[in-house]
Amino acid sequence: MTNNDDLMMPRPVRDSQSEMAEIVLPNDTNPLGALLGGRLMHWIDMAGAMAAHRHSRNYVVTAAIDHLDFLTPAHVGDLVILRSSVNRVFHTSMEVGVKVFVENYLLDQCQHVSSAYLTFVAIDAGGRHVPVPAVVPETDEQRRRYEDAGRRRDIRRDELERRRLSRS
Ligand SMILES: CC(C)(COP(=O)(O)OP(=O)(O)OC[C@H]1O[C@@H](n2cnc3c(N)ncnc32)[C@H](O)[C@@H]1OP(=O)(O)O)[C@@H](O)C(=O)NCCC(=O)NCCS
Repeated sequence: MTNNDDLMMPRPVRDSQSEMAEIVLPNDTNPLGALLGGRLMHWIDMAGAMAAHRHSRNYVVTAAIDHLDFLTPAHVGDLVILRSSVNRVFHTSMEVGVKVFVENYLLDQCQHVSSAYLTFVAIDAGGRHVPVPAVVPETDEQRRRYEDAGRRRDIRRDELERRRLSRS
C-alpha cells in the first residue's frame, strides 16, 4: 500500500475530536463584561479547524459557517469550553460541529452557550482542493450527526443556488 492510500483510509470520528478551553478576559468582552459574539465566533472557527486539520491531515479553509445562536452569555472569568467533531466528509469538504459550554468553576455550573456547524475544505500547499478520507461514526450520536449532516448539505446547496440565481 502506498503512503497516499494510507492517508485516505477511513478514520473514526473519535480520532479527530478536539477540545479547546479559553478563560474570558476583559479584552474579550463588552463594557458590561459579557463575552463578545465575534470573539466566540473566532474561537468556534479555531476549534472547528482543529478537528478538520486532524481528520484531513491537511491544510483547511473555512468555506461556510451556518446560523449561530448565542443561548446564554459568558462573563469575565468564565471558562469557555469548545468541543469539535467531524460530522461527515463529502469529497474535499467536511462538516464539523462545534458545541460550546460555559463553566463557572466557583458555582460548579456548566451551561450550553452555542452550537455551530462549519464546512471546511481541505487544500494542499498550492491551494488546490484535495480529497478528504471518509469519517466513520461509531456511536448512535455520531451516526445521527452523520445523517443530519447529509440533510444540512442539501439545504446549503439549495441556499447557495438560490443566492447565485438572485445575483444573476
Ligand atoms: C471555499 C472554497 C475553497 C470553495 O472553492 P470553490 O472552487 O468555489 O468550490 P467548489 O465548487 O470546487 O467546491 C469545493 C468544495 O467546497 C464545497 N463548498 C464550496 N462552497 C461552499 C459553501 N459556501 N458552503 C459549503 N460548502 C461549500 C463544495 O460543496 C465542495 O465540496 P465537496 O468537494 O466535498 O463536494 C473557496 O471559495 C475559497 O477558498 N474561499 C475562501 C475561504 C476562506 O478564505 N475562508 C476564510 C479563511 S480560512
